[in-house]
Amino acid sequence: MTAPVPLIAGNWKMNGLAASLEEACAVAAGMDAGPARVALCPPATLVERMSRVLVGTPVLVGGQDARAEENGAFTGDVSAGMLADAGASLVILGHSERREGYGETDALVSRKVQAALGAGLEPIVCVGETLAQRQAGEALSLVTKQVRGSLPQDLAGQAFSVAYEPVWAIGTGLTPTTAEIQEMHRAIRATLNEMFGAAADVAPILYGGSVKPSNAAEILHADEVGGALVGGASLKADDFLAIIRAI
Ligand code: PGA
Repeated sequence: MTAPVPLIAGNWKMNGLAASLEEACAVAAGMDAGPARVALCPPATLVERMSRVLVGTPVLVGGQDARAEENGAFTGDVSAGMLADAGASLVILGHSERREGYGETDALVSRKVQAALGAGLEPIVCVGETLAQRQAGEALSLVTKQVRGSLPQDLAGQAFSVAYEPVWAIGTGLTPTTAEIQEMHRAIRATLNEMFGAAADVAPILYGGSVKPSNAAEILHADEVGGALVGGASLKADDFLAIIRAI
């Protein structure tokens, strides 16, 4: 099996003004030559400016969502091609805040992934169960179903990652046990192999949900954890750098 190159991606969500670009520059300036690829996903308004200030650094820039259509009468939305045009090379798709807040289904996420690939963006596809689903013993079946439904066959041979983000762990300070994370990541790996064969071995499976400097090393060293999708702790360069260094 070919080991995936780890990815540590920061999701700024709806946070960040022009002044916040200093944090992005501090991440780039503080990075050592570690094993991980590093990305920051600012709000759409900052994608172009962040891409400009990070030119020549190893930090990649990503979007947080993209419309499945290329263009048209979709007021307020941004397409994958627009993000790529602004300098993004990755895009987060199917985040639980989009699934819950905007009713995004697996089928829609799958179309968005196809659009991202068409625009040359590397998708980070998010999946994860709610607390009620975990307590009902449905986490594994639900998440593997999300993986099957959200990843189109077009991904075969393409660069992508899956982010396992339990909804109840996002922004709460709660995290699953290392054993629970490993169990889920192994199940996702098995599903990817069923769908795409051994070629999918290079796709990292990220963990997301309350990753911080104090728990990053334990989570990142768990079996089949190929990086992290970091929300709150990616807003401060020092915290994000500590997570990058924990890999
Ligand atoms: P958090 O968010 O690190 O603030 O929990 C993670 C995410 O939603 O990607």
